[in-house]
Amino acid sequence: MSLPKLFQPKQVGEITVQHRIVLAPLTRNRANKEHVHGDLAVEYYSQRASMPGTLLITEATYIARKAGGYPHVPGIWSEEQIAAWKRVVEAVHARGSYIFLQLWALGRQAFPAVLESEGLPPSSYVSSSDVLLLEVSSTPPRPLTTAEVKEYVQLYATAAKNAVHGAGFDGVEVHCANGYLPDQFLQDICNKRTDEYGGSVENRCRFPLEIVQAVTEAVGVRKTGVRISPWGTFGGMRMADPRPTFTHFVTQLRARFPELAYLHMIEPRTTGNIDVSDVPEGDSNDFVRDIWAPRVIISAGGYTRQMAIEAAEKYDYLTAWGRYFISNPDLPYRLLKNIPLTPYSRDMFYIDESPRGYIDYPFASEPQTQ
Ligand code: PHB
Repeated sequence: MSLPKLFQPKQVGEITVQHRIVLAPLTRNRANKEHVHGDLAVEYYSQRASMPGTLLITEATYIARKAGGYPHVPGIWSEEQIAAWKRVVEAVHARGSYIFLQLWALGRQAFPAVLESEGLPPSSYVSSSDVLLLEVSSTPPRPLTTAEVKEYVQLYATAAKNAVHGAGFDGVEVHCANGYLPDQFLQDICNKRTDEYGGSVENRCRFPLEIVQAVTEAVGVRKTGVRISPWGTFGGMRMADPRPTFTHFVTQLRARFPELAYLHMIEPRTTGNIDVSDVPEGDSNDFVRDIWAPRVIISAGGYTRQMAIEAAEKYDYLTAWGRYFISNPDLPYRLLKNIPLTPYSRDMFYIDESPRGYIDYPFASEPQTQ
């Protein structure tokens, strides 16, 4: 029997991966207080790059200090951060693998107290509109002015340049999923604006499309990916019917940026880091695939080996793996050889600056050394 497609090479923008198992972007809280990575992250990403030709997507990374609002998350705005990421990238490349950096702005999901602890004024708690997210704050965010929206677009472009030209990343992923800032513009339950960035579907898609435009101009369309979660409830999201909005968004991406490295979509069976037990009948990303195929799609959410093999055969998908890539540093090798997976411990997902549950999960065999 020939090797399943899951374990066959594929062109993704400018790179050729050797298999279709991708490290999903995963917040791990291992950066220091100044949002700079150290040796731990170099080891962590290097371990996950151990099978040559693996594509890794970094944890979500702040484009600017004011785009943050959780502690111990890395950034990509300072020289020190760029230098730290460069060490990660070099370690991954030394393994013959590839790495994209995920560009992040929290908007209303930021904790106002964390912003304040970073010396930022209360007015830096922002979103598309003043719609409360009670999980994080009892006061509403401040709507960005039209001029500030445009400034954010530039912050994304600068961060992309820092990542690709500064740190040497193979590309960047624009995080438009999970109720973070671009998603806060896309979805009407949060976006109540009356300027050119709110109201109609076209207007709600404007900010994310301008980000993609600026990022692709900064680093190249083939070095840019986009992540969406049309069905996710994470961050207080989920429109009554996400299809018209995301149909427009993905159709525009295809029309304007047909050469994007990939479109990354989260399946309705997962939201944040948990599985949804009762996905409503009819919730499906098929409409996204219908627009985007035959371009490259990365699909994320609760995959098993068998599901990933089928998704690669049937739809040509790459599949992104989160929780099992945390507990199995050599996940692609294990899936290839059908070696049982080590279970993950949720209580070690987010231990600030700790090596525990980060770089100490075992390899099935000794990691290959250079
Ligand atoms: C998280 O930190 O829990 C987190 C980060 C990015 C996401 C989702 C969840 O897209």
